[in-house]
Amino acid sequence: MTIDVSAFLPRDGAAAMRQAIAPPMSEMQGSTILAIAGEVRRMKAQGREICDLTVGDFSPQHFRIPAALEARIQELVGQGQTNYPPADGVPELKSAIARLYERDLGLRYEPDAICVGSGARPPIYASWRLFTRPGDKTVSFLPMWNSGYYAQFCETDHRFVPTSAQENFFPTVEQVKAELPGTRMMVINSPLNPTGTVIDSEVLAGIATALVDENRRRDSRGERPCMLVFDQVYWMLTSAGLRHHSPVQLVPECAPYVVHVDAISKCFAATGLRVGWAVLPPYLQAQMKGLIGHIGAWAPKPEQLATAWLLDQPLVMAEYLDGLRAQIDTRLHRIYAAVQQMHAAGLPVQAISPQGAIYLSFRVDLVGRGFASNEEIRKWLLAEAGLAVVPFQAFDMPDESGWFRMSVGACGVEELDAALERLRKALVARPA
Ligand SMILES: Cc1ncc(COP(=O)(O)O)c(C=O)c1O
Repeated sequence: MTIDVSAFLPRDGAAAMRQAIAPPMSEMQGSTILAIAGEVRRMKAQGREICDLTVGDFSPQHFRIPAALEARIQELVGQGQTNYPPADGVPELKSAIARLYERDLGLRYEPDAICVGSGARPPIYASWRLFTRPGDKTVSFLPMWNSGYYAQFCETDHRFVPTSAQENFFPTVEQVKAELPGTRMMVINSPLNPTGTVIDSEVLAGIATALVDENRRRDSRGERPCMLVFDQVYWMLTSAGLRHHSPVQLVPECAPYVVHVDAISKCFAATGLRVGWAVLPPYLQAQMKGLIGHIGAWAPKPEQLATAWLLDQPLVMAEYLDGLRAQIDTRLHRIYAAVQQMHAAGLPVQAISPQGAIYLSFRVDLVGRGFASNEEIRKWLLAEAGLAVVPFQAFDMPDESGWFRMSVGACGVEELDAALERLRKALVARPA
C-alpha cells in the first residue's frame, strides 16, 4: 500500500512553515536572481528569443572546465577515491593551494592556514558564524553579492554602505574609516560581483592600513578585532593589464585579520564541482574546520585531488585561463563597445569598462523618464529587447538609478549580437 503523504499535511503550508521554523530563518527570502532566471526559463519555454544575462554561472555548452581536470576526476572516481576526505581538505590540496598563493600572489601561508569547503560559500558562511554574534555590527558595501543573507542568518546589526559608479563601486578609505569603529566583520569582494570592477590597489592598501590601526587600538584595550573577509573568487579572471591584489600583499600587518575566500568555481568554470577554500591565520583554522566538518560542507574527494593536481600545473592553468578570459572578454567587450556606440548616438545607456569576473555594469538612464523603477526597466528590456538582466537591487543596492548586472557566462556571441541589436531598436522606439 502507498501512503499519499499530502493527505496528512496542513493546507496552509506557509502558516505551517512559520509555526515550525523560527525567525530569522522563517523570514529568509529566495534569491531574486534565481526568481528572474525562472521567469526567463518560462518565457524561453514559450518560444521567446531571450538572451539570458542573469545567472552568475557558466553554461557548459559555451564554457568547459579544463579537459585535464575532467579526465582526472573520472580517473579518481574509478580508483575508488570516494570516501570521506578530511573535514578541512585533503593534504595534497592544502599544499597545492599554499604553493599557488606563494607562486602567483607572493604570499607564503602554511597548509595548516587553509580550510577547504564545498565551494566558496561554506568558508563565507563559516566566517560569519565564527566572527559574529547576534547584534554585532557587520558591514558590506553595495552593490554586493549575498552579504544580506548571511547577515540575516547571523542576526547581525548589518550596515549596507552604498558606493558609487565614480568610485568604481568600491568603498573609499574614508567610508571604511567611518564604519570601522565597533565593526566586528567587514566583507570586500574584488573583482566584484555584480559590477565586474576591480578595487584600486591604493584604496585597498588604505583600507588595510585603517584596519590595522583600528585593531591595534582595540588590542591595547583588550577588545575583539574587526575581521575582513576578502572574497577573491574571481581573481584569476582579472582583465589583462590590471593586477589583482590581496590586502595582505599590500599591507602584510593586516594578515591576522584577513580571511581570503577562494574557489575553482569561477576561474575554472567549475561551479558544479564544489571546491573552495579559505586562507586564514592558522590559529583560526581549527574552528573553521570544525564548523565546516559539522555541516558536512567538505568538497568531494575526487574533485579535491584533481584540483590539487591542476593547481600544481602552472602551464596547464595559464593556457586554460588565457582561453577562458578570451571567451569572457570577447563577450564583455562586445557589449561594452555596443553600449558605447548607443551612448554616442544619444541613447540613454552607459556601461563601465570590463575589469574582471564575468560581469558588466550596465545603466539604462530612464528612471523618471517614462519608467518609475529599475524593475520596470528590467521588465521592459525583457519584453521589448528579449534581454534578461539583473537590477542592482538584487545586490541590496536600494537606489533606482538604472544600474543592472550583465553576466556573460551562459550566452553565445551570436545571440549576444542579436540581443544588442534588439536593445538598440527598442531604445530608439521607446515610449517618450
Ligand atoms: C563574489 C562571490 N563569492 C562567492 C560566490 C560563491 O561561490 P561558490 O559557488 O564557490 O560557492 C559567488 C557566486 O556567485 C560570488 O559571486
